[in-house]
Amino acid sequence: MNEINFKEEIPIDQFKLFPGSRYMGSKNKIVNEIGEILLQYNFDTFFDAFAGSNVVGYFFKSKGKHIITNDFLSMSAITSKAIIENRKIQLEKEDVKFLLENSNSQDFISTKFKGLYFSDEDNAFLDKVRYNITLLKDPYKEAIALSSLVRSCMKKRPRGIFTYIGKKYNDGRQDIMLTLKDHFLLNVDLFNKAVFDNDLDCKSLNNRIEDCNVKADIVYLDPPYFTPNSDNDYVRRYHFVEGLVKNWVGLEIQENTITKKFKSYNSPFSNKNETYIAFETIIKKFSDSIIAISYSSNSKPTKEELYDILSKYKANVVVHEIDHLYSFGNQNHKKGNTANRVKEYLFIAS
Ligand SMILES: C[S@@+](CC[C@H](N)C(=O)[O-])C[C@H]1O[C@@H](n2cnc3c(N)ncnc32)[C@H](O)[C@@H]1O
Repeated sequence: MNEINFKEEIPIDQFKLFPGSRYMGSKNKIVNEIGEILLQYNFDTFFDAFAGSNVVGYFFKSKGKHIITNDFLSMSAITSKAIIENRKIQLEKEDVKFLLENSNSQDFISTKFKGLYFSDEDNAFLDKVRYNITLLKDPYKEAIALSSLVRSCMKKRPRGIFTYIGKKYNDGRQDIMLTLKDHFLLNVDLFNKAVFDNDLDCKSLNNRIEDCNVKADIVYLDPPYFTPNSDNDYVRRYHFVEGLVKNWVGLEIQENTITKKFKSYNSPFSNKNETYIAFETIIKKFSDSIIAISYSSNSKPTKEELYDILSKYKANVVVHEIDHLYSFGNQNHKKGNTANRVKEYLFIAS
């Protein structure tokens, strides 16, 4: 008689459990289209080199691929550690109780950011939990707790960003009314549910792409889009939550700024000339892999220029167009304004 194989299957809708966010440039609205195109290729290992919200890496993890993610923001890398690298560890009830109840006398956030983003009560909560996280023994528990804190702060903050102070843009949404503690409890549950094992050793990296040496069948590049009219500085938008993850260790807060942001990380993608050089260097570096690049119609290099750079290193270059309306609200998005309708391209060079 044939033996029944009881090996647990990956639930078909695991991807639905991804804790999404309004992260700038997130591919959450088009990840299915990206997946449909890339899954036609034969590959095992997928390197998400600019992972951001991690939605793309999580999508391919749920398709049974071996994932490596990278981003120079620790807030991105910690989330990948929590739900892509992590195969089974969850934050248990007693861990949460410890985080909420173990008393300590930290007051860095309460003092430094008083009156800027959150109430005194919320700041005291952040101080307490952030310190208690340092006492957790397991790095994956730590990653879940930090990811939950980050998502809580972003959810509570109108527009999810930290480029302004005070209560601007408060539209009375429930997310804004809930305390950070309420958010945290909801998020721990979300992140716990998002943990799953696809039987492969996935990995989260936290480097500048310039310093990454990774071998993968597909290297997916989704760098910040350079456009002459808007800045693409992730640190300016997310400094508070990035600082929270790093506990502001090694970060230089610019005391003269009203937002108390720290000095941005250097990225070649915030400068037109350097962007061109960086593209060429990275494409050359990963030219042994299939290279997939998400890029948008209103940015530099242009579609034709990028095609030419890729053609120098790879024999077959195809460009797919994905129609996409940006909904990220950092600029004026008026109803009927079609200026935000940009074409997303997916370049595949094999
Ligand atoms: C367009 S976003 C990626 C979005 C992501 N694909 C998603 O769906 O959420 C670009 C990312 O590149 C990261 N980044 C910018 N410059 C970098 C560099 N030099 N090395 C590594 N990461 C960098 C930013 O922190 C940001 O998360």
